[in-house]
Amino acid sequence: MFERPLAGDHSVLVSLDVGSVDPGRHAEFVDLAKAAGAKVDAIIGGHRRVPDPKYYVGSGKAEEIRQMVADCNASLVVFNHPLSPSQERNLERLIQRRVLDRTGLILDIFAQRARSFEGKLQVELAQLRHLSTRLVRGWSHLERQKGGIGLRGPGEKQLETDRRLLAKRVHHLEQRLERVANQREQGRALRRRAGIPTVALVGYTNAGKSTLFNALTGAGLYAADQLFATLDPTLRRISLAGGDAIVVDTVGFVSDLPHELVAAFRATLEETRQADLLLHVIDASTPERDERIAEVETVLAQIGAQELPALRVYNKIDLIGEQPRVQVHSPTLTSVWVSAAGGVGLDLLRTSVAKCLAREWVRAQLLVPCHCGKTRARLFELGAVLDESMEGTNWVLDVSLSKKQYDALRLEPGVLCRRASTYDVATPMNGQ
Ligand code: GTP
Repeated sequence: MFERPLAGDHSVLVSLDVGSVDPGRHAEFVDLAKAAGAKVDAIIGGHRRVPDPKYYVGSGKAEEIRQMVADCNASLVVFNHPLSPSQERNLERLIQRRVLDRTGLILDIFAQRARSFEGKLQVELAQLRHLSTRLVRGWSHLERQKGGIGLRGPGEKQLETDRRLLAKRVHHLEQRLERVANQREQGRALRRRAGIPTVALVGYTNAGKSTLFNALTGAGLYAADQLFATLDPTLRRISLAGGDAIVVDTVGFVSDLPHELVAAFRATLEETRQADLLLHVIDASTPERDERIAEVETVLAQIGAQELPALRVYNKIDLIGEQPRVQVHSPTLTSVWVSAAGGVGLDLLRTSVAKCLAREWVRAQLLVPCHCGKTRARLFELGAVLDESMEGTNWVLDVSLSKKQYDALRLEPGVLCRRASTYDVATPMNGQ
């Protein structure tokens, strides 16, 4: 419905220090632009105390950008800042090239990476919302001058038509998304009823979540050395010492995730909020490691997931020559050092996850009289039976199941529970 910059465009990037200096932000921005397929011809930096209302940058800097674009024959200018619709228009008028702001860039990347039906709908809706603020303001600007000679006619009609079409499409997408969200909620309710604890992988984009997800679950998901290879949560069931868990792979975070996206991905991020444990995957090899940890924690706070139990997983240790190990910093903060791609340290991680979820599972020995076949059948159905033997006319079942399953079991009268305890795991030893 509207033009998007073509992937592979020759671009001039503009990344200023506004207020404070943060070199990490510039490096991240170049990565983002490349992830969108931009060929970076030049990067323009600078410093501003506050943004200029007309061009965001000052008029001298705007002229410098125009000149650079002409020298490089670039076809796109990308700003590492949010631009207002009028700033974008003023810049396009001056530079005579397409101008994209940070939100537009991130939306473009998400659009390229969305794989599931829901992910695609979410991105399109966020893009249209981003665009509609621009169209509406452009239109009201003309509306104010309605009646002016030369301002009536097809130009204005076109804008009206665009706006109506846009509103219709937004409405349509909202309805479809609502239906998909309902289905997702039903799926989640089923999982809740099944009572299996959920572990969500979160982390900065490119930290290695999909690779770790594959390594932990043995699933052949798409993982590429590109940002945002994952957009849609993917679920897999894994068996750990102690019991089963469902692992959820989630969307990668970036700093200053645009509000449009936080809103669009609310349903997806909901998976994160409702998890029993978060695995915060960190690229241990990047110089901006600590800043990125902080960024992810900020997003987690934004979606109300900051209080959830979490493990920090320092990934890519092969690149920095670190050994796989577990570090317990405090009762609530544990780090595990691994290489997902190399399959190193994964046993330590599995044991650490099992330890964190220990309270979610129950180990029990049940004495089941032969007239209580229903209870026995149910336990087998849940895959909870570890061992079975006979004692006289009773079955003796050693079972392991989630606490929620155990509480919901409603044992038939006559079934005797000999011992029940939450699963206990020793702190994993360091080593491979
Ligand atoms: P998004 O989907 O963008 O959020 O990324 P992600 O966090 O899912 O990262 P992904 O698994 O796609 O990995 C990103 C890149 O890092 C890929 O090229 C992986 O091969 C690479 N990678 C992942 N784990 C390791 C590791 O342990 N060592 C090394 N050297 N590279 C790794």
